[in-house]
Amino acid sequence: MVKHHEERLEKLGANKDLLGLPVGLLEQIDRALRDRWQVDFFETPLGLVDHVAHVATEGAASRYHAANERAADNVKRGSSETAVYEAMCDAELLGIVTSSRRAFLIDAISLAVAVVRELGLPGPILDAGCHAGIACDILAEVVENEIHGIDPVERAIDVARERVGSKANFEVAAIPWVTTIRFDLVLAVDSMPRNLADRAHFLRGLSGVLNDGGVAVIVSQHWANADMQTLRRQLSSCQLGFGLADVVGGYSGAPTQFSAEGCLVFVKGGKVPPPQRLVAAMESDWGSFRDYANATSTLQSRKTQAFKRARQ
Ligand SMILES: C[S@@+](CC[C@H](N)C(=O)[O-])C[C@H]1O[C@@H](n2cnc3c(N)ncnc32)[C@H](O)[C@@H]1O
Repeated sequence: MVKHHEERLEKLGANKDLLGLPVGLLEQIDRALRDRWQVDFFETPLGLVDHVAHVATEGAASRYHAANERAADNVKRGSSETAVYEAMCDAELLGIVTSSRRAFLIDAISLAVAVVRELGLPGPILDAGCHAGIACDILAEVVENEIHGIDPVERAIDVARERVGSKANFEVAAIPWVTTIRFDLVLAVDSMPRNLADRAHFLRGLSGVLNDGGVAVIVSQHWANADMQTLRRQLSSCQLGFGLADVVGGYSGAPTQFSAEGCLVFVKGGKVPPPQRLVAAMESDWGSFRDYANATSTLQSRKTQAFKRARQ
């Protein structure tokens, strides 16, 4: 199983178009984001805090502004950004703020779905750092697997339970998480800590909740600067073998521009080390994405990796 998954992921990594989903399925994911979560494409020259001030009510905008100031203070003191994640639970703010990450979410969810389909993974899926349960809600709609989400922010899990209901199982918890459940796939979108010691802890925690041959799909802006020697050591001690490297993202954000984050896929029990030229492996498809995105016929809202790969 482990070897089979490693070999299959290597093939998918070498020809990333194979990760493309049918266009109808992508449209379904996009529609669910827009209709159920108000996560939509927008264009703005403003930064996120100013954009929120522009489109939200005065009260919501000032709550978001204050939360950002508190979080910035905390980050300076080496503490977490929890204040922002709590503020984002506000019904008015969740859609507006998450819209700035729409391309990352569409691509990350699509990649997870493609991996589940390509490897034929039947077991439970965990979204580690699920916040208000957006990805869980969509995964529950488009795959058959049992869906779980955890997040340390209590208010986010309250919102997830309220809005997603029994389609997924939610718990206030963080990685490393002590549970008897073992997952076939763990998705972690921007929840991995940047600090190296905490990252090791996080990777070990993810590995601990995976079945043998289970897959971790980890999106992080920090992969691009990873020191390869340290990463190789950490992965090997966590029994995570390399599967494939990709980027998620496209034309989005505030201000709206092209941006991407690394996404690495690992296999529990695998032995393959990540490639020395990790960024090149992540960006191997980015050149053809650029051609697609620069074509005048491409809709602005479809300038994401997943839409580029979509099969008609
Ligand atoms: C940037 S948000 C991303 C939320 C969601 N994954 C998305 O992409 O929209 C990061 C989330 O990870 C959560 N988080 C932080 N550390 C975590 C940990 N060790 N385990 C699980 N979740 C964590 C935070 O509470 C926050 O909700």
